[in-house]
Amino acid sequence: MESSDAGTLLFAWRGCLFRVPDQVQAPKAGSLFFCQHLDARPGEALLEIGGGLGLAAVLAAKNGARVTATDVLPEAVEVMRVNAALNGVTVDARLGDCYAPVDGERFDLICTNPPQMPTPPGRARRDAAALADNGGADGWELLDRVIAGAPRHLHPGGRLIFTIFAFLGPKAAVAKVEAVGLAPAIIGSEIQSFPRIGYERLEQIRVHDLEATIPSGIPETVERLVIQGTAPR
Ligand SMILES: C[S@@+](CC[C@H](N)C(=O)[O-])C[C@H]1O[C@@H](n2cnc3c(N)ncnc32)[C@H](O)[C@@H]1O
Repeated sequence: MESSDAGTLLFAWRGCLFRVPDQVQAPKAGSLFFCQHLDARPGEALLEIGGGLGLAAVLAAKNGARVTATDVLPEAVEVMRVNAALNGVTVDARLGDCYAPVDGERFDLICTNPPQMPTPPGRARRDAAALADNGGADGWELLDRVIAGAPRHLHPGGRLIFTIFAFLGPKAAVAKVEAVGLAPAIIGSEIQSFPRIGYERLEQIRVHDLEATIPSGIPETVERLVIQGTAPR
């Protein structure tokens, strides 16, 4: 339980201020990279899956988008609402798995910076840190469902935007997007420090690094990519 004398962790970015409660993952390099490639337009209906503390959701709302954001973590849903209010915008934050809270709804832009760390069998957990990182055996567990559901939740001409670590496979990402009828494009790439949890999972990552993106030895960096899929008009 949080003590009343525990202090408040805040994150400031792009003129906005975000509360970072203990139970919700603080913004990482991947969070900023994700936001830098989200060109949310005024008036657009945007859905973020796995909004965390609401960084992307609040910035998109500040830009004039009508934002809905989901998360499976109740504390994330709560802090998204708090952070939206703190920055003078509204985010329709909803609790639930993937598209479950937006059944039957369509959006102009669906986006996610999902949990995607390959997770060895028997190591899956349900706590907040695990929910933010664990992506099933090959890293694709949530992403596959986001991609599969995108066509029935996008307006004609709408876009799906998501991040991947290169070890998930850029070619695989493009093929998965194409397979559901969206026009794929790689719209961003950045070299980042190799994630700390990645060192603990290196064997599992190598098993699933089918496009051989990780060099032999101890990697120091990893490529991060932003993938876009555009629905037909
Ligand atoms: C890597 S964090 C990203 C958080 C934030 N969007 C950011 O970029 O900093 C992934 C988020 O997805 C949430 N999450 C995990 N599994 C989920 C699921 N099945 N449906 C919705 N959200 C999920 C986690 O609780 C976490 O907040």
